[in-house]
This record gives sequence, structure tokens and C-alpha cells, in this order.
Amino acid sequence: MEKFNASITYDQRMWAADIRGSQAFVKGLHKAGLVTQEEMEKIHTGLDKIFGEWSNSTFQIKPGDEDIHTANERRLKELIGEAAGKLHTGRSRNDQVVTDMRLWLRDGIATLKGIAIELINTMVERAAVEIDILFPGYTHMQRAQPIRWSHWILSHAVALSRDVEQVEEIRRRVNVLPLGSGAIAGNPFNIDRELLRKELNFDGISINSMDATGQRDFVAEFLFWGSMCLMHLSKMAEDLILYSTKEFSFVSLSDAYSTGSSLMPQKKNADSLELIRSKAGRVFGRCAGFLMTLKGLPSTYNKDLQEDKEAMFDVYDTVHAVLQVSTGVISTLVVNQKAMEAALSPDMLATDLAYYLVRKGVPFREAHSCSGKAVYQAELKNIPLNQLTVEDLHTASPLFGSDVSSVWNYTSSVEQYTAPGGTAKSSVVTQIEHMRTWLKEHKE
Ligand code: ARG
Repeated sequence: MEKFNASITYDQRMWAADIRGSQAFVKGLHKAGLVTQEEMEKIHTGLDKIFGEWSNSTFQIKPGDEDIHTANERRLKELIGEAAGKLHTGRSRNDQVVTDMRLWLRDGIATLKGIAIELINTMVERAAVEIDILFPGYTHMQRAQPIRWSHWILSHAVALSRDVEQVEEIRRRVNVLPLGSGAIAGNPFNIDRELLRKELNFDGISINSMDATGQRDFVAEFLFWGSMCLMHLSKMAEDLILYSTKEFSFVSLSDAYSTGSSLMPQKKNADSLELIRSKAGRVFGRCAGFLMTLKGLPSTYNKDLQEDKEAMFDVYDTVHAVLQVSTGVISTLVVNQKAMEAALSPDMLATDLAYYLVRKGVPFREAHSCSGKAVYQAELKNIPLNQLTVEDLHTASPLFGSDVSSVWNYTSSVEQYTAPGGTAKSSVVTQIEHMRTWLKEHKE
């Protein structure tokens, strides 16, 4: 049971937050007249010493240290004696643990946000450099329309920018002080929670002690955030896995991010991308699992809530790794411009053929059907769409003239999409500028 009950093996990661919370709490106790100046100083010195022990890995966990809170307090007593017993006055591990978690996650979010921004920056700058490369765009995995390669890169960067914005919002809800809530009913010694808030740099204090100790919404939100972020990256990984196959040959992964096969000498496997793709499942499993733990819990603190920590740490570690490896993959990817452009085919300009008629006043529905007839003819004749003669095209619409030849140009096709968000060079440049400004605003 002791082993089953203990959380020290994993919650020791919060040692710094736990000490920081206690340093602040003892100031509150002093202000409330519950510890003397001398006792406060003793406790501070002892906690500093414990901080040093954790920092240089000399802190010794002993049998009976159930969690980080009991371990630090046990050690404090060893170091300073009876005065240590005053530290927990009016405090419960219920408000302590959730304070520690919020402090820990606040830092964790700052770190993840920083590396997400680095990844986005890498993508945006890559898009700027490779803006002139065209390749096929796919819907339903079918060849759709020619697009810019940088438009593809930015589509994923934009998704990640939403993840950054979302985690900034989650941080606001993480950064609320629960300390001073006690076990359930609150604090009986009129502790100055505003002082605690300032000491610990929280933006606000929790409104209701029962809610403060019994809720883990901020953890659930973080787990969902991780799931969404890795879902985005798994989609990007899937595209790149496909693009790196011999059949596509659009990109090749740097050797550092791929591996060979132990059996087939010719193989180069996109392991990094496959792992990125896979981690979304793992992280969502943590999210779904923890929501199941929360569902139907009675009010306030129940030991079930101890399950919050492994989920939080695992999602943090996983997202951290995925973001870093993604940055490595994107910054070292080699693009095969020739293969990309060779993969463009005239059938992908069938929409453009319809737009040609639209520009001559034909309603789009009719133009679509005329272009469809042309596609059918080319298929019947077993020739590419752009090899149909003007006479052939006349059977689809009398409005086709010799100037139809201007349709068969991938660059001018792409250049039509000048509306904001489109794939024309001017529009992609605007997207890059938008993202650069966004990056500046979110780097702080
Ligand atoms: N290790 C516990 C946790 O992680 C700390 C809170 C324990 N509280 C209690 N009343 N048993 O949730």
C-alpha cells in the first residue's frame, strides 16, 4: 500500500516549486503572528539548504517520504528541529500540491511556448527562402491545384500559432493562487492571501477553497492543449512521410532524423516523423485517461487527483521532445524542387480552364461543365489536357480561342490566387510578414 500510495518517485520534479511555496507561506504565517521572526528565518535557512541539496542531487529520499511535500518537511525538521512543525500551520497538502503544480506548469508552459515559437520561426523563414517552389496541392489525397511549397509550410505554421495563443490563455487560468485554501474550508488564521499571491507572482487568487483544492481544470486544459498541438504536428508529419517516399520524392530527410533498416540496405526510414505522428496518440491517451479520472469525483480533494501529475509530466516531456525534433526535421529537410515541379500535370489546371471561360462571362457552373467535357475528351484521346487543339475545345465551348494557351502555365495559375490567404506570391509574402509580426509579438 505504501508503494501504491506514494507519489514521490514522480512528484519530486516539483521540488523547487514546493520550496518556493513554503518560503512564501512562512512569510504569511509570520505576518499573521503565527511564527516569530526568528522561526521564520530558521525555516527560510532550512528551506534554502534543502534547495541546495536538490540542486546538487544530494537530497536523500527516505522510506516514508510519501510525496515531495512530506519529504521536504521531514528534511526541514532534521535540519532545524521543532520550528519546522510550524510551517504547515493552516496549510494542507491539498492546497499545497495544487500550488506546486500551478507553479511548475507555469514554467513548463513558458518553456514549451519558447520552443514552439522557435519551430514556427524556422518554418516561416524556410517559407520565405523557398517561396518560388511550386508543387501539387492535394485534397482527399487527390491532385487538386498547383500551390507554392511555402504555402504548405505556412499552413502548418499557422496551426501552431493557434496552439501558442491557446497555451497563453491556459497560462492565465494556471496562474491563480490556491494557497490559503487549506484542506477544504479555507484558512482559519486570516492569512494574507494577497501577500502569498505577490510572493509567488500569481495574477489572482482562487475564489472558493473547495473549488481551489478539488479542481484540476488547468491540468485537463493543458492535456487537451498538448493533444491538439501534437495532432497538428502529426498531420504535418504524415504529409512529409508521404512526400519523402520514392513515389513522391519531394523531400528527403536528413540522415540525423532517419534510420536505415537492419535488413534492407536500400532503406531510409522517416523514424523521426513516424514518432512525431505517434506521440499525438500517446498524449491524447493521457488527456482522455485523466478526464475519466475526474468524471464523477465527489467534491473537493480525493486521492484520485494524484493521477494528475504523471499525465502532466508525460505530456510536457512528450510535447517538449516533439517540438524540438520537429524543429530539427524542418530545418534540415532537403527539398527536391525538380521532382516537385515535375509532379505538376496539366489536369491540375482544369479549374483554370473553367476560370478562362468565367473571365469571358460564362457562369461558373456552366464553365465547370465545359471544362469537364474537355477533361473527358483528353481522357478519350489519351492525351494531356493541354494537348487538346482549339478545335477539340470548341466541342466543349465555342468561346475557347487561341489565347487558351495562356492557361497552361503553372506559375500564372498560382499567381491568380492573390486574395488574402491564397497561394500567389504576393499573398504568401503577406502571410510571411503577418507571421513575422506575430512572432515578434509573441516572443515576449
Ligand atoms: N501526493 C498528493 C497528491 O499528489 C498530495 C496531496 C495529498 N493530500 C491528502 N489529503 N492525502 O495529490
